Amino acid sequence: MKIDEIKIEDLQSERFIEEKMREISSIVGDGIAINALSGGVDSAVVTMLAHKAVGSKLKTYFIENGLMRQGEPERVVSLFKKMGVTVELIDAKKQFFKALKGVTDPEEKREAITHTFYKDVFGKLVKENGAKYLLQGTNYTDVEETVAGVKRQHNILEQIGIDTQKKYGYKVIEPIIQLRKTGVRKIAEVLGLPEEIYKRPPFPGPALSARVIGEVTPERAETVRKATKIVEEELCDTGAFQYLAILHEDRVTGVKEGKRDFGFQIEVRCWESKDAVVGSPTRLSFDILEKLADRITQEVPGVVSITYNITKKPPSTIEAV
Ligand code: XMP
Repeated sequence: MKIDEIKIEDLQSERFIEEKMREISSIVGDGIAINALSGGVDSAVVTMLAHKAVGSKLKTYFIENGLMRQGEPERVVSLFKKMGVTVELIDAKKQFFKALKGVTDPEEKREAITHTFYKDVFGKLVKENGAKYLLQGTNYTDVEETVAGVKRQHNILEQIGIDTQKKYGYKVIEPIIQLRKTGVRKIAEVLGLPEEIYKRPPFPGPALSARVIGEVTPERAETVRKATKIVEEELCDTGAFQYLAILHEDRVTGVKEGKRDFGFQIEVRCWESKDAVVGSPTRLSFDILEKLADRITQEVPGVVSITYNITKKPPSTIEAV
């Protein structure tokens, strides 16, 4: 299926919103649709469009997969509650960690997340609700990168030949597939979503598992979650496109309290980019880098080494997995 990109300069926000609401409402009809909200701008826009289009015929879920940032599930649910959207929190931590057990290859990791998300978690929710449709916030860049073979984005299904009806038992509706991130942010603002949503740095669908090299265990997810919190606190005023912490698989010798400590390495990345297609590292001051190194090694148990990635995308990608 050919998808026509709507470039930011051609995007007429009000018209786009009206058209998409009409489309969603005519497809869903008298049925029930479900969607997952992660709190990112893409899923937030889809949630709001569908909420406005079909009201209570939409069931919105936040899937707690054990890979979200600190406090994120509760924060997102309460933010949407204030906007009149009920979001149910589903605890699926065990299912995701079971699927990720022993998996170290990046693409296998993505496959494990995709399968758990669409088949196990959503398959069950769809059945329980008698829903026929899953709405999701796939955007133009997600499709482009997956089809080009850069990496498989967790939400790309139909475009790589997956028949969701046959495989999972429901159809997928993707209202923002013609837009890139800047277009999605514009729509979010026009829809009246708060600034903390439409200005939010991107966060990947596979969540922190895209930032753990090697096996993703609850303990390793917790290490990267703690480091992520510090990186976000220290870099949120830089105006950068995205900033993140990555947990490496190799360990290195360090010294803590005068004793050898064979510990973990965290890599910090901070990106300048418009739409994540290409990017370059932010020229952070050495003072900021030093503060990051001090805080992460002091506050995250087991970490003895911090590095800063100075590679452009390409050849790097934004996430590590
Ligand atoms: P990469 O790592 O491919 O990331 O340079 C480009 C942008 O996409 C985000 N990203 C993802 N988003 N599912 C998503 O929804 C994914 O599997 C995924 N992988 C990367 C990444 O954070 C960046 O903004």
